[in-house]
Amino acid sequence: MKLFRYLAITALAGATQASPAKRAVDDATILNYALTLEHLEAAFYATGLKNFTQVDFINAGYADPFYINLQRVASDEAEHVTFLSTALKSAGAPATAACAYAFPVTDVDSFIATANILEGVGVSAYLGAAASIANKAYLTAAGSILTVEARHSSYLRAIAGEVPFAQPFDDPLDLNEVYTLASSFIVSCPSSNPSLPVKAFPSLTVSSTGTLNAGSQVVLATSSNAQAPSKVYAAFVTVTGPVFTTVTPSGGGYSVTIPSGVMGQSYIVLTSSNGTVSDENIVAGPSVIEVGAKNGKPSPTITPSIPSSTGVLPSKTSSIPQFTGAASAIGVSSGVMSAIAVAAAIIFA
Ligand SMILES: *[C@@H]1O[C@H](CO)[C@@H](O)[C@H](O)[C@H]1NC(C)=O
Ligand SMILES: *[C@@H]1O[C@H](CO)[C@@H](O)[C@H](O)[C@H]1NC(C)=O
Repeated sequence: MKLFRYLAITALAGATQASPAKRAVDDATILNYALTLEHLEAAFYATGLKNFTQVDFINAGYADPFYINLQRVASDEAEHVTFLSTALKSAGAPATAACAYAFPVTDVDSFIATANILEGVGVSAYLGAAASIANKAYLTAAGSILTVEARHSSYLRAIAGEVPFAQPFDDPLDLNEVYTLASSFIVSCPSSNPSLPVKAFPSLTVSSTGTLNAGSQVVLATSSNAQAPSKVYAAFVTVTGPVFTTVTPSGGGYSVTIPSGVMGQSYIVLTSSNGTVSDENIVAGPSVIEVGAKNGKPSPTITPSIPSSTGVLPSKTSSIPQFTGAASAIGVSSGVMSAIAVAAAIIFA
């Protein structure tokens, strides 16, 4: 099965063509979608670094230089916000502003667990959006953010005791799949924010015990607003297309066996079809699961003295890069705006 996955990548072009036609979204929409996620990440780290000190991290077993690296991650996310906002504004398109958020963080461990999932979702979001970006300059810029999110993800995975790069290919998520995951952290947004043509599917929770591997069982439960038809399937997202499995009713939910070839931070959706995954047949999800053996956490080194200064992040020497071709890249601002308005009107009608 694993070999099959390796070989299947060669059929990638075919698989992509066979997937259902994606809704066309313009570049301003994609940039605002990316900015929505970057605001969320930036707020998450800014709040986390207010909540927890360097000493808190060291006491929880995350020895130096973890804290300084966390500050770097926070700084990267803040710069991504500035970069995308500037690109949108210089192209005459309104840039979405930060929302109010709620994160399931109660201590250092839950902060790191949430950070780890957010970075993985960030990678999958940029990967899934790449094919929708029309302008090549934006594609390169988004790619340069994607690779940095992947570094953050690998680092946090290693810190959390997981294999840093658990599989040879990452999983792309589409806009609505990402928004479904992100919206669970969003409390409210400014009404002046440009509306995005995205919607959240009903949530899907997954319960499991111990380390998950191919063949392990997990139980999926939908939120009450999900309308599950009598026959549903679980689909695991992969770059070569969904891997479908049958589900067995189990205590009000659905028991699912993890198929081989699914590894690392993985995404399950509940669908009404076993042929495709689309906005039309997702019943609930995605839900995030971690599959595969763990490395174990790096042993904390003894820190003889804790530096008193927490402001050790080196100051940036480079200024934030700007798109020189931005105005031509996403065109006349009124055109962009009306395209967004039309898309939003269609989606929210
Ligand atoms: C910060 O602390 C508050 C109060 O305990 C908590 O509600 C919130 O989830 C925390 N956020 C982060 C990102 O650590
Ligand atoms: C897909 O579902 C149909 C109807 O339930 C079933 O007949 C078919 O065998 C399924 N295909 C796969 C590959 O599971």
